[in-house]
Amino acid sequence: MCGIVGYIGYRDAYPIVIKGLERLEYRGYDSAGVALYDGEELHICKTKGKVSDLKDKVEKDIPTKGSLGIGHTRWATHGVPNDVNSHPHQSNSGDIVLIHNGIIENYASIKQELTKRGYSFYSDTDTEVLANLIQEVMKIEKVKLGKAVQIALKQVVGAYAIAVFDRRKPDEIVVARLGSPLAIGIGKNEYFVGSDASPFIEYTSNAIYLEDEEMAIIRIGRDVKVRSINDDEQLDANIQELQLSLEQIEKKGYDHFMLKEIYEQPSAILDTFRGRLLPNEGIIKMSGIEDNLSKFLNANRIVIVACGTSWHAGLVAEYLFEDLARIPVEVEYASEFRYRNPVIKRDDVVIAISQSGETADTLAAIKLAKSMGAFVFGVCNVVGSSIARETNAGAYTHAGPEIGVASTKAFTTQITVLTLIALRLANAKGTLSTSDYKKCLFDLEAIPRRVEEVLDVNDQIVKIAENYSDVANCLYLGRKYNFPVALEGALKLKEISYIHAEGYPAAEMKHGPIALIDEQMPVVVIATKKGNYEKIVSNIQEIKSRRGRIIAVVTQGDTMIKEMADYAIEIPETVEFLTPLIATIPLQLLSYHIAVMRGCNVDQPRNLAKSVTVE
Ligand code: G6P
Repeated sequence: MCGIVGYIGYRDAYPIVIKGLERLEYRGYDSAGVALYDGEELHICKTKGKVSDLKDKVEKDIPTKGSLGIGHTRWATHGVPNDVNSHPHQSNSGDIVLIHNGIIENYASIKQELTKRGYSFYSDTDTEVLANLIQEVMKIEKVKLGKAVQIALKQVVGAYAIAVFDRRKPDEIVVARLGSPLAIGIGKNEYFVGSDASPFIEYTSNAIYLEDEEMAIIRIGRDVKVRSINDDEQLDANIQELQLSLEQIEKKGYDHFMLKEIYEQPSAILDTFRGRLLPNEGIIKMSGIEDNLSKFLNANRIVIVACGTSWHAGLVAEYLFEDLARIPVEVEYASEFRYRNPVIKRDDVVIAISQSGETADTLAAIKLAKSMGAFVFGVCNVVGSSIARETNAGAYTHAGPEIGVASTKAFTTQITVLTLIALRLANAKGTLSTSDYKKCLFDLEAIPRRVEEVLDVNDQIVKIAENYSDVANCLYLGRKYNFPVALEGALKLKEISYIHAEGYPAAEMKHGPIALIDEQMPVVVIATKKGNYEKIVSNIQEIKSRRGRIIAVVTQGDTMIKEMADYAIEIPETVEFLTPLIATIPLQLLSYHIAVMRGCNVDQPRNLAKSVTVE
């Protein structure tokens, strides 16, 4: 979590740093700060609150000239969000100026040692400890900043992406990473630093993505020097061409990124298909699968690891792989899997799903599975992310940047990739006949058009949201493929509107949640024609007889449920296994409109972050 930005070159650093922080705000937004060197003096400004609060404060309090600057937007780990705990942090001498994304786990023992040596600490952060440790190393070892950073980091346990400079030598920024992402933009006589490439996309399309345990010395007038932190080895700088465009990361007239991303789903799914889904030829072509087909076909089972919304996509995949390809699947929260001593064998295939490709628990689960001999396949959105690099093979979702903290298009494109894989495996195993397989490919190809159609329910959903924006709780029910959809619908509502919501398998309602149902309780039921329809009709009756308020998502042309429900949202018909791709959309819109009506910050819900790089 946390976003870091840096600039060194010939332009004014401040506009680049502040814009970069705005773009990285999805990573954390409880406080922010900048450090700017104006050629003679260092100016630091920090504040609790959002980047917009920082902007007001900077423009009132400090000069904004100067061509060296670093900035930080924070998601608090050590120390509450306040002005003092905000980054950048300085060492006691004031010389070392540091921003940090991650956690230094052994900060307490380092702090104790530095305190004995006369250092004082003004914040509750682990970052201030690192700034002072670097100062101490420079003093004791009589080394320059780069070397001091390296020696200090060897003593650190935890995760970090850092950018640091010495105000006495303001022609250089030193950066390093272990477990948190860090990109360096390479311009002409100028360099940029970012947690991702979005802060510098309009200035350069060349970037170095540091690997774990690497650091770089970025000095004006010289090439970037990349080094291994542990063995001092000088490494070749791998300069890559960026695939991100400025247009992709702007709101394009929508009020919120989340709404834009909901509406992007038809084109995002098409991008996921591109070059892979070829119904006329009757084939699916995915190199990551073809190259490793025997691994999947001989797999004892598939274990899926993920967090949050990606875990819900994993649940849909469980249904898909078992239903279509008859391969046993287990779906695990990455955070549980990594610590519960799981049994993993060499013929297990592990699929890790992650939008950001940076989620710490998922990354650790992958490393564990690999160490136990499993083949690990990644489904990621962010190209070149840590998870994409750590896995043995993978498939990108190609959804484009997702900025809204609540995941929308990432979810549907993850399901799309997983559907492609399940169908390809079903075809290879012969669990689907050739003619059924071909029909499925055409059904899948039609999904972007169906999603386009379902987006037309937006106006109806605005009206429904008006009647539900003041509720305190909400229950979401679904069966079979619609059960993960219910979980995802509930997660969307609680994430962005702060309404307590729970998703449940509809039949399980009788074992608990039914006790909550009264005339105050809205129940969203995903009740499409092909998802155990009669059974779900009975569940709706059970809710009705307890005076619950029903919002039903039904198949176009449904009459029975429409009569029973307070509101029925009609969605186009498709084959059962593709229903999640369509049924999810109205639930995303419902939570979006309710959150907007409640005055919530939809794109940056409180306490959450887009990319969770802490455990
Ligand atoms: C955070 C985000 C969620 C996301 C989850 C997993 O909680 O707010 O939207 O689903 O992390 O992230 P990943 O990038 O691994 O999919």
